Amino acid sequence: MKSIVVLISGNGSNLQSIIDAIEANQINGKIVGVVSDQADAYGLTRADNAEIETRVHAYDGYSSRADYDTDLQKIIEEFNPDLIVLAGFMRILSDFIVERFSGAMVNIHPSLLPKYKGLNTHQRAIDSGDIEHGVSVHFVTPTLDDGPVIIQAKVPVFEDDSAGELAARVQEQERKIYPLVVKWFCENRLHMENGVATLDKTIIPETGYASE
Ligand code: GAR
Repeated sequence: MKSIVVLISGNGSNLQSIIDAIEANQINGKIVGVVSDQADAYGLTRADNAEIETRVHAYDGYSSRADYDTDLQKIIEEFNPDLIVLAGFMRILSDFIVERFSGAMVNIHPSLLPKYKGLNTHQRAIDSGDIEHGVSVHFVTPTLDDGPVIIQAKVPVFEDDSAGELAARVQEQERKIYPLVVKWFCENRLHMENGVATLDKTIIPETGYASE
C-alpha cells in the first residue's frame, strides 16, 4: 500500500475527496501526513477528524524560500511517502525539492493548462471571454504549473458568471479527478519518465487522459 503526504494551505476540499475515496476503499493507499503552511487551514481539522497526523510548517521566521523548503523536505521525508499530493498548497517550491520528489509529486491547478498558470485563474478565464474553463492535475516539475498533464476536466463559463461561481463549478470537478489520479498512482499505473506522463505504459496526451 502506498503512503501519501498531502500539502495544503486552506479549506482542504481536495484532501477530503481523497480521504473519502480511501475510506470507501477506492484507493489502495494511506495518507500518513498532512502538512500545512497555514496554522488555521480548515484542512487540518479535516485531517484530525480522519485521525491523520498533521504538521504546520509556517513561513514566519524564515528569511529565504530555500531554508523553508529545506525544512519542508525534512518534514516530508520523515513520513517516507511514495506520493506527495499538492492540494491547494499555495507556495512555489524550490527546484531542489521538486527534483527530490520527481515523479512522485502531483498538483491540481484550476485551469486548462497550459492556459492561466499562476493565480486568479477563474477571473482571467472570464476576462478573456473563454466559453470553457477547467482544472488540470499534473506531475510537478521545476517550472511553475508546467509539468506533464495527467487529466483535465472542463466546465462551461456562463456570461454572468462571477469568479466565485466559476470556481465552485471547477471545484466540483476537482473532487472527481484528483482521487482518480491518486488511485492510478497507488496501483502503479501512473508514471513520469523523461518528462512525459504515462498511464498503463501509454503516453498521456498533452491535454491529459481522455476516456474513449
Ligand atoms: C483548489 O481549487 C485548487 O485547484 C487550487 O486551490 C484550491 C484549493 O482548494 N490550487 C491552486 O490554485 C494552486 N495554484 P481546497 O483547499 O479546498 O482543496
